[in-house]
Amino acid sequence: MCGIIGHVGTDDALETLLTGLENLEYRGYDSAGVAVQNGSGIAVEKRSGEVSELKSSIDGSLEGSVGIGHTRWSTHGPPTDENAHPHTDETADVAVVHNGIIENYAELREWLKANGCEFTSDTDTEVIPHLIQYFLDEGLDGEAAFRKAIENLEGSYAVTAMISDEHVLYAARKGSPLVVGFEDEAFFLASDVPAFLEYTDDVVFLEDGDVVIVDDDGVEFTDLDGNPVSRERKTVDWDPEQAGKGGYDHFMLKEIHEQPTSIAQALEGRVDPGAGEIALEGFEPGTFADVDHVQLVACGTSYHAAMYGAFALRQAGIHATTVLANEYSVAAPPIDEDTLVIAVTQSGETADTLNALRRATAGGARTLALTNVVGSTAARQADDALFIRAGPEIGVAATKTFSSQVVMLVLLAQRITEDRLGDPAADPDTLLPALSQTPGAIDDLLESSRAAAIADRFEDSQSYFFIGRGLGYPVALEGALKFKEITYEHAEGFASGELKHGPLALVTADTPVFAVFVGDEDEKTLKNAAEAQTRGAPVVAVCPEGHRATEVADAHLEIPDTDPDVAGLLANVQLQLVSYHAAAQLDRPIDKPRNLAKSVTVE
Ligand code: F6R
Repeated sequence: MCGIIGHVGTDDALETLLTGLENLEYRGYDSAGVAVQNGSGIAVEKRSGEVSELKSSIDGSLEGSVGIGHTRWSTHGPPTDENAHPHTDETADVAVVHNGIIENYAELREWLKANGCEFTSDTDTEVIPHLIQYFLDEGLDGEAAFRKAIENLEGSYAVTAMISDEHVLYAARKGSPLVVGFEDEAFFLASDVPAFLEYTDDVVFLEDGDVVIVDDDGVEFTDLDGNPVSRERKTVDWDPEQAGKGGYDHFMLKEIHEQPTSIAQALEGRVDPGAGEIALEGFEPGTFADVDHVQLVACGTSYHAAMYGAFALRQAGIHATTVLANEYSVAAPPIDEDTLVIAVTQSGETADTLNALRRATAGGARTLALTNVVGSTAARQADDALFIRAGPEIGVAATKTFSSQVVMLVLLAQRITEDRLGDPAADPDTLLPALSQTPGAIDDLLESSRAAAIADRFEDSQSYFFIGRGLGYPVALEGALKFKEITYEHAEGFASGELKHGPLALVTADTPVFAVFVGDEDEKTLKNAAEAQTRGAPVVAVCPEGHRATEVADAHLEIPDTDPDVAGLLANVQLQLVSYHAAAQLDRPIDKPRNLAKSVTVE
């Protein structure tokens, strides 16, 4: 997830581009750059770091009225000056900014290299300016060269390009957002409306497959083949503060709604449901053949995702344990060279998790960081890294990164069990289609959820309990953590079977029990929920449509029917919404809960 801005007009582009990048920084903040046509070619300024650092390094060479800019959230290659966008061909005749993932970039790169192109970055994006230049050299005009380059891309993209002697921007969209803005004598292209909201609220949202050509005379909307398409102009009525949140009241709610996109991005190029295959970059089949046991270390929400992964591994017969990273240094389970230690950390900077990684390395284990941040310490410190590609998460309470961690751990469990035991953890013919359908299922759930009404109904309760079994247990723990974190109300999560071993003493008519049903011995969870109900507690079942729990519970939140390995993800989204609405009713500072920080870099 990165931010794109483009400008064509009569005024200087630079100020508009920098304002746009500052407004888009919530989409990525590890590097930034701009390119402007300055009359004698394309001038580029880019660097790792925030937009403020880019601003302070800009000199007078960037004067011109056509330009593009980018704020980056790394997916390929660490956040370095070279990897920052815009990317150009060798002669800087073509400059490109891109958001998304080019799945076939490795093949394209090899092909372009064989044709004499020299690359200066590790990014997938750099193939695009080289491709455009290649087709220009073949004799195509700018528009045809751009279209031909786009035709060759597989994956997802929002791309904006410019060519040095043309007063034009070319743009294309497939799977990543792009919006056009209209001002009197200027036109904008951006990943999101806030980029240019200071200048105009008159917009067109592009659709997948659209190619647009923007010049001084206006904007031409076409499909990939060049046929005109008509797109409706809309006026957005967001205030600038709300705009950064995509029109949502809080980043947390925005990030909950981003889960269909972030999960699709995690799966992109890694899952082929038709062939029943997965491909994890850097982890060829057989890579985990020697792994005797797996230890997952993490904190907080990431720990709950790690539990989910460990369950999937254990159910398939792999020796897997989850250890809180902060406890790992006190008493790590035995480690040897056949141990794989997976550090699950959204930020990649959590001090406790980094310590656990160090300890694992010192003990001779093989280490792997599962993280959202490409250049993070965990990614650099571990032997290998796998990225969840969720994009920046601004709300302190983790939401979309939990889902993406779970998706990646389910995929890793498949690879590890196949390598180690000869068979994947779950039947790929049912798991992979279910994973691919998860974005759509979450969309449906978000649209139909009655979580706000449930939060309202139980607003005056004394405590909130969450129970689940198997893969429902980490979801119950995560539901409780989210609830206490942003509402400041007392909430606890338990394995449903544990309720009767103590916590039942706390249960009263004022303590609603949220029971998660994901297909792991649901009859037993139903019994445990009934035990609470008999003591007067209202039970809210989170379960598939038509599940028996809906008849017994006092209220229910439905999840679309899916594979058991994925059901917990969907149940978790319902619980995220319950917490969000409960906190909103209490008027809590949802994005910045008291006493908490997004990245905990102290022990
Ligand atoms: C809770 C939350 C925290 C983090 C924990 C680990 O909503 O976000 O519990 O999960 O601090 O952070 P990372 O994943 O960055 O290591």
